[in-house]
Parts: sequence; C-alpha cells; structure tokens
Amino acid sequence: MADPRTLFLVSLSLLAISPAIAGISPHAVDDDRRSASILRAFDTSNYGKLQLDNGLALTPQMGWNSWNFFACNINETVIKETADALISTGLADLGYIYVNIDDCWSSLLRNLKGQLVPDPKTFPSGIKALADYIHGKGLKLGIYSDAGAFTCQVRPGSLYHENDDAELFASWGVDYLKYDNCFNLGIKPEKRYPPMRDALNSTGHTIFYSICEWGVDNPALWAGKVGNSWRTTDDINDTWVSMTTIADLNDKWASYAGPGGWNDPDMLEVGNGGMTYLEYKSHFSIWALMKAPLLIGCDIRNMTAETFEILSNKEVIAVNQDPLGVQGRKVTSAEENGCSQVWAGPLSGGRLVVNLWNRCSKPVTVAAKWEVLGLDASTSVSVRDLWKHKNIAENVAGTLESQVDAHDCKMYIITPKSSHSAV
Ligand SMILES: *[C@@H]1O[C@H](CO)[C@@H](O)[C@H](O)[C@H]1NC(C)=O
Ligand SMILES: *[C@@H]1O[C@H](CO)[C@@H](O)[C@H](O)[C@H]1NC(C)=O
Ligand SMILES: *[C@@H]1O[C@H](CO)[C@@H](O)[C@H](O)[C@H]1NC(C)=O
Ligand SMILES: *[C@@H]1O[C@H](CO)[C@@H](O)[C@H](O)[C@H]1NC(C)=O
Repeated sequence: MADPRTLFLVSLSLLAISPAIAGISPHAVDDDRRSASILRAFDTSNYGKLQLDNGLALTPQMGWNSWNFFACNINETVIKETADALISTGLADLGYIYVNIDDCWSSLLRNLKGQLVPDPKTFPSGIKALADYIHGKGLKLGIYSDAGAFTCQVRPGSLYHENDDAELFASWGVDYLKYDNCFNLGIKPEKRYPPMRDALNSTGHTIFYSICEWGVDNPALWAGKVGNSWRTTDDINDTWVSMTTIADLNDKWASYAGPGGWNDPDMLEVGNGGMTYLEYKSHFSIWALMKAPLLIGCDIRNMTAETFEILSNKEVIAVNQDPLGVQGRKVTSAEENGCSQVWAGPLSGGRLVVNLWNRCSKPVTVAAKWEVLGLDASTSVSVRDLWKHKNIAENVAGTLESQVDAHDCKMYIITPKSSHSAV
C-alpha cells in the first residue's frame, strides 16, 4: 500500500505540474486540482509532521478497553470471554483487534526485584498466559500503566521504572500500552512521556504507545513524535453532554492528526446505557469522522442488537480507517454553531465524508454548502448514506441538506463526478 502521506503530498504537488509536461489528460488534472482544493478547505498544515516512527497506527487503532464498563472489576476470565466475543460476533474481522486491559490488573506492590506483579486473585495465570491466549485468536493484548508514582487506582506507576516495566511488558508479549497521568508529581508531561517511548523502543518489540495525559498540556503540539495517539480531553462519561463537549474539544486539534499519530477523544460509550440509540449513533459517526481510536467500552459479551448495529457499521468504520488519514472537523461557521452542525473531511479518491448533526432537541434542517467543503458550486456529486447503506442521489450540486431528528447524525460520502464523465 502506498504511504498515505505520499498520496496526500502527490495530490498537492500535482497542482504545480502542467498537463503537457506531465503527459496526462487535462481531465485527470482537473480532478487532482479539485482534490487539492478540498484539502485546502481543511487545514492540514501539520499533517504528517511529527509522527513516531514505530510503523504502527497508519490508521486509528480499533479494539476494546475494560474501563468504561468494568472499571476495576476485571479478571482474566472476563478478558478472555471478551476476546472470545470479539471473534464470535465478527467484530474482530471488522478491525477491532486490540483487547486492552485498563487499570487494576496489578498488585499493590512491586516484587523484591522491583517488578510489577499481576494481581494473583484476579490474574492468577499471569499476563503472559493471557497474551498467549489472545494471540492464539489472532488478536493483540494491551496493558495499562501510569507516568507517575501510582496509577489512578493506586497501583505502582512506571515513572522512573520505564525501562524495567517496558522490558517486562515486552517479555509478556504485550502489544499496546495506555499510559495514564495520575500522581505525576507535578512534572510536565513532555518530560514524563518520552522516557517510556524510548524504553518501549529499546525492547525491540513493536508496541503501540497510547498517551493519556488528558489534554492538559496541549499534547497535539508535542506528542506526535512521542506516541501513536494522545488523549485531548478529560475522561468521557456516558452522557450526551460529556460526549458533545469532548467532540468539540478534540476538534480544535484536527490539523495535527495523521497516519502514525491520532487525537484521542477517549473511548466509546456506545452500549453502556446512558445515551439513546440516536445519541450513540451520533457518537460513533463523529468519532469515526474525527479519526478517533475506535475502542469499544461496553460489555460485548452481552450487547443489544442496536449496539451491535452501530459498532459493526462497515461503511462508518471504513471512513475512520480511510488511508488518507485526514481528521474530519466541524465546518459550520461560528454563527451557525448551534443546532445545525456540518462536520466533514476529505477521504481518499477525492471523496468527502459529510455528517449532518443535530445538536438540539427538536428536528432541524442541516445543510452543507459546497463552499465550506472546498468544492465549486457547480460540482455535481453522488451521495451515499452510510446508515441506510444506500446511494440516495446521483447529481447533487451546491448544497447537501436533510432534515435531522433531535440528537441524530446523518453520515454521507459524497463523490464528485469525474471530469471525464462530465464531458
Ligand atoms: C470476573 O469479572 C466479571 C466482571 O466483573 C465478574 O462478573 C466475574 O464474577 C468475575 N469472576 C471471578 C472469578 O472473579
Ligand atoms: C525504534 O525507533 C527507530 C527510530 O525511530 C525506528 O526506526 C524503529 O522502528 C523503532 N523500533 C521499535 C521496535 O519501535
Ligand atoms: C465525567 O465525570 C467525572 C466525575 O463524575 C468528572 O470529573 C468529569 O469532568 C466528567 N467529564 C466530562 C467530560 O464531563
Ligand atoms: C445482559 O444485558 C441485559 C440487558 O441488556 C441485562 O438484563 C443482563 O443482566 C445482562 N447480563 C449479563 C450477564 O451481564
């Protein structure tokens, strides 16, 4: 697969090449010019600049994490049953491959050698055995630690133990580390997070590095060369207010995301019961468009059909995993920022994703005008509805609009007609 960063730069550089010199059809150049115009409508000035070079996260990570549903009530049985469920439900085949254990897996004290020890009551077989089980299913295992003296649930932290702990995780076959920010002794994140990057790298094992400093020190500005993703906000809660607040906060950093490093607005609450079906559909649609990590946070051993329908929407997942890797964002102007919101972003192949999102509690009409998407008013597009799984229109020009129910979010891919076919 072509490196998506190259793909992106090619779209821009083609602008400068005259068709005669390049020996390609003027129509193809029109198409490339349009792609470049779309990309310019979204600020991508920081795309691809700072990536950590460990070969991971070319698209946002997908999987499951124990915290949002189980919090501290975890054990090796529930982790194994979750891995089994990822396979039996088909979610693993859709890309959800990381099984991430959050806080509370370890004992309250290190052993006499100074090593972390899995809690013998809840993880009696140890993490290596669990990793073997997970790997046997073709999945990957994630673990959790903290860039401080203790984890948030007061287990030993990894600050000043980076090398020993990274070695231990690597020896267990761990594939992913979420690194939290509690008990941080008031030391700046920029000082506490790079040592673990270097320690993970020194193990020689490729380990996904998920930075969780809650957005306190504007991580988008520095974390790209430290980790594969960085939390941009405080923890999410299973409420509409929390989810929408976090979406807006994460949006500010859109221009910094790209293959290798992603803004992380925290894990999914879909299926945990605090929001309605339409609110969860909005949550998933916006997280996918924002190129957020898609880490399921419910009990997938026991999902409702509605929860499964949302999490397994292949077309929405494909937007999240699009190889171009440009974060979509809110494109409605400040005056319009109330109920009717348009969120959009460029996709590979000159396409665009457009979400029409109703943030208020009565139905509204939401309209996406071509000018905010970087398209000429005359450009004609075909429109696919990613929740109806249907092509709904063939020749739309100027504006895409729809009535949207309270707290619902419609999600479309629009494909500009090629100049070839327009002739
Ligand atoms: C493991 O954790 C799950 C989820 O909290 C719980 O239902 C189950 O009883 C626990 N099993 C054991 C053996 O503690
Ligand atoms: C370690 O870092 C180097 C330089 O950035 C990189 O080339 C290499 O792939 C990394 N190795 C691992 C195991 O992450
Ligand atoms: C979520 O709830 C916790 C505690 O109830 C609170 O501290 C936190 O600020 C909330 N987060 C959001 C984004 O609302
Ligand atoms: C499964 O979910 C249903 C409702 O969604 C609940 O009543 C039931 O207790 C859950 N079962 C388990 C084992 O969690």
